[in-house]
Amino acid sequence: MDAIGKKIVLVAACALVDSDGRILLAQRPEGKSLAGLWEFPGGKVEPGETPEETLIRELDEELGIQTKVACLAPLTFASHTYDDFHLLMPLYVCRRYEGVAIGREGQAIKWVRSKALRDYPMPPADEPLIPFLMDLL
Ligand code: C5P
Repeated sequence: MDAIGKKIVLVAACALVDSDGRILLAQRPEGKSLAGLWEFPGGKVEPGETPEETLIRELDEELGIQTKVACLAPLTFASHTYDDFHLLMPLYVCRRYEGVAIGREGQAIKWVRSKALRDYPMPPADEPLIPFLMDLL
């Protein structure tokens, strides 16, 4: 709990960047909260994990992408209060990885240029991350 009594949820997110400088977005599937919105892939940091370990696990599970801690560069941090919890979400950039991304959990995925990121409706926590990627790419 934090000072205002909300549970804190730690999620790690990743901007996976391809050789053309495009970023991978994944669509949250039906049945999940915020279904239909486009997010940077990642997931909840489980007890005992570092955010980098979470991303290595989630990128493999969700997308069939393999990477390493040394290939994950922290870029910025989202901090957003939802109705029932407070989300802290570091955003990493990954340009070196193996595999061809597919939506292994049935989710739609899309490679998007940084200047087109705003065309994809995102969870409110993810939107403030866009300018950092526009500056970088
Ligand atoms: O992905 P998961 O449902 O485990 O994430 C927990 C919560 O974190 C979601 O319900 C959503 O509100 C938030 N989230 C987010 N942006 C992301 C991933 C998760 O706002 N990229």
